[in-house]
Amino acid sequence: MRVFVTGASGWIGSAVVPELIGVGHQVIGLARSDASAAALTAAGAKVHRGALDDLDSLRDAAAASDGVIHLAFKHDLAFSGDFQGAADADRRAVETFGEALAGSDRPFVIASGTLGVAPGRVATEQDGHGANPAVAAWGGGPQTRWATAELVLSLASRGVRSSVVRLPPTVHGDGDHGFVATLIDIARDKGVSGYIGDGSNRWPAVHRVDAAHLFRLALEEAPAGSTLQGVGDEGVPIRYVADVIGRHLDLPVVAVSPEDAGEHFKWLAGFLAADSPASSALTRELLGWQPAHPGLIDDLDQGHYFRKPSA
Ligand SMILES: NC(=O)c1ccc[n+]([C@@H]2O[C@H](COP(=O)([O-])OP(=O)(O)OC[C@H]3O[C@@H](n4cnc5c(N)ncnc54)[C@H](OP(=O)(O)O)[C@@H]3O)[C@@H](O)[C@H]2O)c1
Repeated sequence: MRVFVTGASGWIGSAVVPELIGVGHQVIGLARSDASAAALTAAGAKVHRGALDDLDSLRDAAAASDGVIHLAFKHDLAFSGDFQGAADADRRAVETFGEALAGSDRPFVIASGTLGVAPGRVATEQDGHGANPAVAAWGGGPQTRWATAELVLSLASRGVRSSVVRLPPTVHGDGDHGFVATLIDIARDKGVSGYIGDGSNRWPAVHRVDAAHLFRLALEEAPAGSTLQGVGDEGVPIRYVADVIGRHLDLPVVAVSPEDAGEHFKWLAGFLAADSPASSALTRELLGWQPAHPGLIDDLDQGHYFRKPSA
């Protein structure tokens, strides 16, 4: 298959590219910079120069492909205070892909998240996006992302073999620069490894290589309109994560009160407080996906997260 991949140079995308090429697919990766283009070329992909806002360019690339995996997201914008702007840009890109692929029966796979899908209980693939009123407080950006995921699923009725891969808040592995790396940076900075309240709230997790494998299976086999959950660990108590971090950094492990969490963890506080376990039982059954790489605690215990400051 000739697969157009956005975000191919990113954390997950750079694992998806070898996963696809390894079984004989051809990858055309979107690159907005010379550095990203060089990384894609080195990985054996072809390069489509452009940015997420270049909608004509995205349309052309999608139309010339046999399928699209959309992983690009303006995290730089989202985490500097404009999540809504990032979600709006994402929405426009997804609408463009939908138009380009309508009536083709070609696959279109996007990434979404499990966090907040069903707070306080185990989320399954059957839960809708953003249906829980508790997450309304997260504001318009997350709501827009969930609406975009629903749009992707609805493309099934327009002749697109669309699917949404919901990922846990941590897609972990060697080189991670996401939430867990940030938590480690905060522990270093504060001199304590903290968790919020009693730390019993749970995050699901998946190893990056297992996530990449699921994106390939979704591309190749997922029926139109599938919601998939790329979950390895169903729910790791945050207290356990703080314990491992404290042990590796030789720092005390401390409870931070919910009132002090915003000051201590800054923008990570809202995510870190979430109790949002998730299952992948239906995904495993549907696609035969079987996570094979270490879970979050074992991965942390391998030590690579602590080799050097991850900033
Ligand atoms: N990592 C996780 O734990 C996690 C969890 C849940 C959901 N997700 C979702 O999974 C997807 C992939 O995440 P990731 O962790 O791989 O993200 P990432 O490492 O931040 O990579 C983002 C990718 O998007 C590209 N990009 C950003 N802005 C762009 C623009 N304006 N034009 C073109 N390309 C642009 C980046 O290109 P450059 O290389 O040029 O910067 C990079 O390839 C995202 O939708 C993310 O929200 C991730």
